[in-house]
Amino acid sequence: MEIVILPSSDEVGRVAAAQIAALVAAEPEAVLGLATGSSPLGIYAALAREVAAGRLDFGRARGFALDEYVGIPADHPQSYAAVIRSEVVEPLRMNAALVQVPDGRARDIAEACLSYERAIVAAGGIDLQILGIGANGHIGFNEPTSSFASRTRIKTLAESTVIDNARFFDSADQVPTHCLTQGLGTIMEARRVVLVAQGEQKADAIAAAVEGPVSSMCPASLLQHHEHAIIVIDEAAAAKLRLADYYRYVYANKPVWQRVPSIG
Ligand code: F6R
Repeated sequence: MEIVILPSSDEVGRVAAAQIAALVAAEPEAVLGLATGSSPLGIYAALAREVAAGRLDFGRARGFALDEYVGIPADHPQSYAAVIRSEVVEPLRMNAALVQVPDGRARDIAEACLSYERAIVAAGGIDLQILGIGANGHIGFNEPTSSFASRTRIKTLAESTVIDNARFFDSADQVPTHCLTQGLGTIMEARRVVLVAQGEQKADAIAAAVEGPVSSMCPASLLQHHEHAIIVIDEAAAAKLRLADYYRYVYANKPVWQRVPSIG
């Protein structure tokens, strides 16, 4: 795991975005795993600025959303299909036909999940998975005690997740109770993972994920076993890391050949 601690939320977005920009510049048909929620918005905004300036082209890149609510109309502004369209596909000028979201309205949910897994395999797997983290340590909607071997499936949202996500809806009782999410096994197969977190409300989850035991009680801790996971966080989210000074030292002394070009 590489831990990058930055002074501001804005820099978290830019530094994480630089990883994606470097990948897509080198591999225009790269397959991206796309998280929703607040955390990656700075990434998408930074990438959109590169696209608008003509420095980056996502026209051939492919995308797989991390998750989707079950039972929410596709045109609901908070369906992840709608969020991916407005926050990612349109600003990054991606080809919408190359971006998929799990079908949370499928009649046959089990088949929809299997078919999502098959589509990821058919695309050659995910090159880079963008992740946020829940205050309870979830990644995707793999809530605590999710199986490390899990694949895309239906999950029941934890009560704390429903409360956290109520800010996107008029009230907590409008938040769907279920979702489809890539599993922890699915996420671990991505060739790279970039997880971003900002704010003190994520500090406990980040400490547990990075320095705690690998445990399904903190699903993000499984990333300790990922070969290429980068955790990009602001100072507030880093507040409970015991080895924060070491991570800062490592980042400051990162070999030049390992650095990716920064973006505006
Ligand atoms: C979103 C997702 C979730 C969020 C997490 C943090 O697609 O899978 O794991 O990343 O709930 O949400 P925010 O970023 O809104 O704090």
